[in-house]
Amino acid sequence: MKDASPTAPQKIYLSDYQVPNYLIDEVHLTFQLAPEATRVRSRITFRPNPDATSADFFLYGEQLTLISAQIDGAPVTPTHVNGGLTCDVPSAPFVWEAEVEISPATNTALEGLYMSNGMYCTQCEAEGFRKITYYPDRPDVMAVFTVRIESDLPVLLSNGNPVTSGDGFAEWHDPWPKPAYLFALVGGDLIAHPDRFTTKSGKDVELNIYVRPGDEGKCAFGMEALKKSMTWDEEVYGREYDLDIFNIVAVDDFNMGAMENKGLNIFNSSCVLASPETSTDMNFERIEAIIAHEYFHNWTGNRITCRDWFQLCLKEGLTVYRDAQFTADMRSEPVKRIEDVIALRARQFREDNGPLAHPVRPDSFVEINNFYTATVYEKGAELIGILKTLVGDADYYKALDLYFDRHDGDAATIEDWLQVFEDVTGRDLSQFKRWYEQAGTPRLSVDEAFADGTYTLTFSQSTPATPGQDHKDPRVIPIAVGLLGADGNEVVPTTVLEMTEATQSFAFDGLSAKPVPSILRGFSAPVILERDSDNAERAFLLAHDTDPFNKWEAGRALARAGLVEMVLNNAAPDGDYLDAVLQVLRNDDLDPAFRALTLALPSQDDLAQTLVDLGHTPDPTAIYQALETLKMAMATHMQDVLPRIYAQYQVNEAYQPDAEQSGARSLANAALALISRTDGGAAAQAQYDSADNMTQQLAALGCLIMAGKGDAATAEFYDQWKEDRLVIDKWFALQISHAAPERAAEVAADLTQHVDFTMKNPNRFRATLGALAMSPAGFHRADGAGYALLADWLIQLDPLNPQTTARMCSAFETWKRYDSDRQALIAAQLDRILATPDLSRDTTEMVSRIRA
Ligand code: PHE
Ligand code: ZN
Repeated sequence: MKDASPTAPQKIYLSDYQVPNYLIDEVHLTFQLAPEATRVRSRITFRPNPDATSADFFLYGEQLTLISAQIDGAPVTPTHVNGGLTCDVPSAPFVWEAEVEISPATNTALEGLYMSNGMYCTQCEAEGFRKITYYPDRPDVMAVFTVRIESDLPVLLSNGNPVTSGDGFAEWHDPWPKPAYLFALVGGDLIAHPDRFTTKSGKDVELNIYVRPGDEGKCAFGMEALKKSMTWDEEVYGREYDLDIFNIVAVDDFNMGAMENKGLNIFNSSCVLASPETSTDMNFERIEAIIAHEYFHNWTGNRITCRDWFQLCLKEGLTVYRDAQFTADMRSEPVKRIEDVIALRARQFREDNGPLAHPVRPDSFVEINNFYTATVYEKGAELIGILKTLVGDADYYKALDLYFDRHDGDAATIEDWLQVFEDVTGRDLSQFKRWYEQAGTPRLSVDEAFADGTYTLTFSQSTPATPGQDHKDPRVIPIAVGLLGADGNEVVPTTVLEMTEATQSFAFDGLSAKPVPSILRGFSAPVILERDSDNAERAFLLAHDTDPFNKWEAGRALARAGLVEMVLNNAAPDGDYLDAVLQVLRNDDLDPAFRALTLALPSQDDLAQTLVDLGHTPDPTAIYQALETLKMAMATHMQDVLPRIYAQYQVNEAYQPDAEQSGARSLANAALALISRTDGGAAAQAQYDSADNMTQQLAALGCLIMAGKGDAATAEFYDQWKEDRLVIDKWFALQISHAAPERAAEVAADLTQHVDFTMKNPNRFRATLGALAMSPAGFHRADGAGYALLADWLIQLDPLNPQTTARMCSAFETWKRYDSDRQALIAAQLDRILATPDLSRDTTEMVSRIRA
């Protein structure tokens, strides 16, 4: 169902913010659960906000059937308006009561109260609570909730602490005032994986992970991750948990990864269920990080929430930053940093460079669900990192203490956040604030000079125009630099240069010879470094840099340069690159995970953008071919070493998903991928046949498919795992991502006809159509078959699930990079989507922005 209004969707502006007209003290909700006719009774104590400029009373409400409404016990007849209702109300505090009926069983949008495999669950962020009852559904209205759930289902959960329960009902009370987006309810036939945690001040907390029967065996890892997260937040940020119980529930049908509802986190089952047989090492790492992320929201998001949705990065950027610190502490800091930068470039730089570019704090939106982006999350986290580098660790933690102290219980803004840093450090952060306000990735160019023992680096910054923002002011950029001597020794250790001007020079004196610079160590700011260095310098840094990030970055730059030559000039693979990587591969003193990352090549999408930056139109097929040719050259060049590496880094002990074992397996599997290019798939088949964990099984299956020997194993894999939804998602995705580009669209189309394909499950939809969209050579097939297939399915999904549809439209965001034939084919699909009758507001906004 959609808004009846035929008018163009309305844009909402940060500058229009007004305080709420009414505040709430308490909310009482009673749910009588029934699949198609759930009754929700609300009793809300309102009082006029003394700071308000209007007395108008408006409650949001969507897809609700109003049964009755009362004010102070007397029946009232509210006026229905677009998106909610209004009513005459007393000028003093009053009690609003309403009863509505909703239909969770037919809610395919997975927003509000819905059903997933017979279980009731909710998703209210950002604006889903208004599909549950009439309410001032905005984050700056916070209230204490008491919830009664009536149902025969055995498990009935809501936020806060349990009050009472009995035959057919349960009551919950959350003492912490919260906005409605943090409300949650779950009802189902679920099994708990229980545990306990004692906080540092001695509070005993009951912990549970609730899953469907059959999934009990996949909870232990998530529970350990939760306990580690609780300890870490106490030790590093001094933050304790604040309720008697913390529940996590796994849900199969979920639009996003997970949700931080107070005391009742709800997870996409793919982001919490884990076992060695069914989950890869990467899955384990991601699950640990997401559990931490949602738990950390209890302070950064829940105790301190956002005033309005423009401030989303206040909770998300900070919480992503915190979960990255946690992962770095639990695993390897350099490896985590390299992985994060790869992801940042792949998703956020791509976004920042295209039609969907927006500031970390946007100043307008049509549909807030379209702004849960890599820019808000990942660039938002980078900004915390910049700030921490600028003020130093000690002042960072002082400022955080002040933030928690000053704003506990508040709905805060980016201004509040910056103010605590200004108060603690005395610094003026107005220039830093531009990072929140200006979209686009700064380009940083470098010139060097050496004379009389003084080495001078001159940097220039500029940011290309982005939609709606032509002019950009210079930002403060912390540039971490180290200098190396010709012998490979470090002559100047890491120093942070604080750039504030458009062009600025920094001198290092007392040097006996011109050094080799290692610039932007640890990726100290999310910028694109444009430096005309040569391959000799890159190889030197790959061999000698003491900064692990820049060591890896040098290898990546070398690979990129060689691949560009291969694509543009049909050059042969670069022998210097092959030698340099071979040295890294052989060097058993280096962390295996680091070596695996160095062996990995830039993605097709990365190369496409690199070519655009160099002024060329990327040819997806040529890029794919160059990568294939280079991998083959690596396989032959390293042929003598690969079997030794493969044998040495196979882990023979019992499977552990820790950093050490998973690093070793990633190196062994990188070796296997190369070996499989020359041995006809024999080693991969052997690994497939003996694998006792999903990391090795899936890697082997991928190698077999690439070697053209995957048919038997693909069929076997399905038979083995057909009962496991999460493993079958992998099976769908792998066949598409590993298909030959000319076949990928057909493979994906065939899989949409498979009995196990359903567009009602977002994970399955993404495993199929998302996998195609993320395989550039297959997706950008010259005849447009990939574009047409994706558009067909987006059009079908939109009426059922606008959020997931809209998110997946970003597959088209790079369309202006490509040749005019491809652009015309994509434009035709975008226009076809836009012309679809009743297209959702979500998808309309996304496609219009992309098409513009
Ligand atoms: N707030 C959730 C998270 O980051 C993400 C989310 C947004 C989930 C909207 C569902 C809906 O942690
Ligand atoms: Zn979050």
